[in-house]
Amino acid sequence: MQGVARNFFILAIVYSLCGMAIGLHMSITHDHGQMPTHAHTMVAGWLMSAVFAFFYHLVPAARASRLAPIHFWLTTVSGILLLVGLFFLLGGNEAVEPVVAIGSLGFYAGMLMFAFIAIPAIRKPAGSSAGLYPDGTPVASTLKNMPAR
Ligand code: HEM
Repeated sequence: MQGVARNFFILAIVYSLCGMAIGLHMSITHDHGQMPTHAHTMVAGWLMSAVFAFFYHLVPAARASRLAPIHFWLTTVSGILLLVGLFFLLGGNEAVEPVVAIGSLGFYAGMLMFAFIAIPAIRKPAGSSAGLYPDGTPVASTLKNMPAR
């Protein structure tokens, strides 16, 4: 994995460790008050970041986009604002609500940006970089070498 794909996968691992720690803390203390923070850290953090990582790994045209690093940083900063803000909000600190709101809007903007990067990249015609394996081998060349049935 390289570039944005690798960054997203490292981010995913960090989210999984933080989210599971919250899950374990809830189980041990029998206080499930942070359930939304745990669920969002695991799904919006671990699972979404891992999906982004594998998408950028498998589609070089998306990874090469100049928007891809902006997508990574927007998603990272807004996701941290959203999840850390949610943790304190559910802990009873209502003053952090604007932080959660800004994080949520930024996270949505990140997903919108991903749509602008991903959809054109998967619609590129065969022969463009979207038709390459991550090591640069054209997909068509390996299909040509398959034994005839
Ligand atoms: C160490 C591992 C984990 C522990 C100890 C743990 C613990 C918990 C606990 C105690 C709850 C609250 C249940 C409730 O109050 O009804 C919960 C909910 C949840 N967990 Fe985890 N969890 C773990 C891993 C995961 C993973 C890997 C995912 C997803 C990738 C995940 C996603 C969720 C979701 C979506 C909910 C909310 C379910 C609902 O809406 O009722 N958790 N977890």
